[in-house]
Amino acid sequence: DSGLITLDPGYKNTGSTESAITFLDGEEGKLMYRGYPIEQLAEKSSFVEVMYLLLEGELPNETELARWKKTLNEYNFVHDRVGKILNAFPSEAHPMGVLATLTSALTAFNPKAVDPSKDADMYHAAARLIAKFDILAAWTYRKKYDLPLIEPSNDLGYVGNFYQMMFKKDDSFEVNQTIVDALDKLFILHADHEQNCSASAVRLVGSSHTGLFSSISAGISALWGPLHGGANQAVIEMLEMIKNDGGGMQKWIDKAKDKDDNFRLMGFGHRVYKNMDPRARIIKKAADDVLGQLGIEDEVLDLARTLEEVALKDEYFIERKLYPNVDFYSGIIYRALGIPKEMFTVMFALGRLPGWIAQWKEMRQTNQPIGRPRQIYTGHTLRDYVEMSDR
Ligand code: SDX
Repeated sequence: DSGLITLDPGYKNTGSTESAITFLDGEEGKLMYRGYPIEQLAEKSSFVEVMYLLLEGELPNETELARWKKTLNEYNFVHDRVGKILNAFPSEAHPMGVLATLTSALTAFNPKAVDPSKDADMYHAAARLIAKFDILAAWTYRKKYDLPLIEPSNDLGYVGNFYQMMFKKDDSFEVNQTIVDALDKLFILHADHEQNCSASAVRLVGSSHTGLFSSISAGISALWGPLHGGANQAVIEMLEMIKNDGGGMQKWIDKAKDKDDNFRLMGFGHRVYKNMDPRARIIKKAADDVLGQLGIEDEVLDLARTLEEVALKDEYFIERKLYPNVDFYSGIIYRALGIPKEMFTVMFALGRLPGWIAQWKEMRQTNQPIGRPRQIYTGHTLRDYVEMSDR
């Protein structure tokens, strides 16, 4: 090929697409969905409304929102044979692995929705997947604790229904609105983030025109990694380790700076944000509010605040512009809501689903070509086959 290949591992300086969905300003630490600042959406909107905004491009009016909620309710069930696949897993299976498998399995039970092409089909395919996804997410929790599955309900709203399917143990169960409101806000904050690793995985896999469910399953697998969405679980594990180690900070900060040591300060740093992640700012405040409202004292939250304070004064972090990201404080709220750390990344996936689908829809509707990068070859030059007797 005469064309010049520019090598860009990790695509640090590559724009993979044009997109009209989400805007990030890394220097200023700003985030907008379809032009609306995340601070206003977190304050004034709802997760179901933000789903519509990301997917359709505009805030819904009363009629559109009612129709969207009604459509979600129409698909609020999962084929019980998917439940049999769930049962085949051992209880210690990581919920993200279970979720990726069950999401891909939906293809077999929704053959018509596999590859929607027209707008109307996309609307229903998105509603179908979103309506089934919170059921699957709740199932991963029930599976982990060998609990019976709870029937989905159309009376509690999307987040309330999820919360009930996760936590209902008996008929005395009541939906705690403080918790549902906190989850709703967290899902809004996680809903999209332009071309991050998992959204890029969804776009790349989807660019071969495979189905929506399998493209999203690829995104779940990418999000699972501790360098991406899996960081929210790794942050709590790191903070618990620091607590058990006596709570000293400097030793861990120094360890994170040591190039020979692959220990990193989880929840710090970001490819785009060279300022505080605006979501981390909102989540940090929400952590205070939620723990206060629930009357919970959590030593790990105090450790997190101290770690942020000490790290942000450290030359290494200052010169590399390493700030807390979305994953640094989110686990502390999930913990306070009684959600186990193995479920934290499932919560991230549940929030991110509408963003992944919006990215997939835009990629298909703008007829993006199949993703197929080149390489710089560094292997052997041409050589002939060697018979076994000569090896
Ligand atoms: C998410 O992309 C997105 O938008 C993702 C996300 C989304 O909403 O989709 O925002 C969600 O994934 C948030 C990030 C969660 N991950 C973590 O918290 C894991 C810890 N963070 C790091 O692994 C890292 O900061 C990344 C993965 C987030 C970003 O990696 P980059 O952009 O490839 O940065 P890098 O590894 O090149 O780091 C630049 C420098 C290096 O030092 P030098 O080689 O220049 O001397 O900063 C150092 C790194 O060693 N560094 C860290 C560090 N993060 C970067 N050093 C210690 N601790 C860290 N956490």
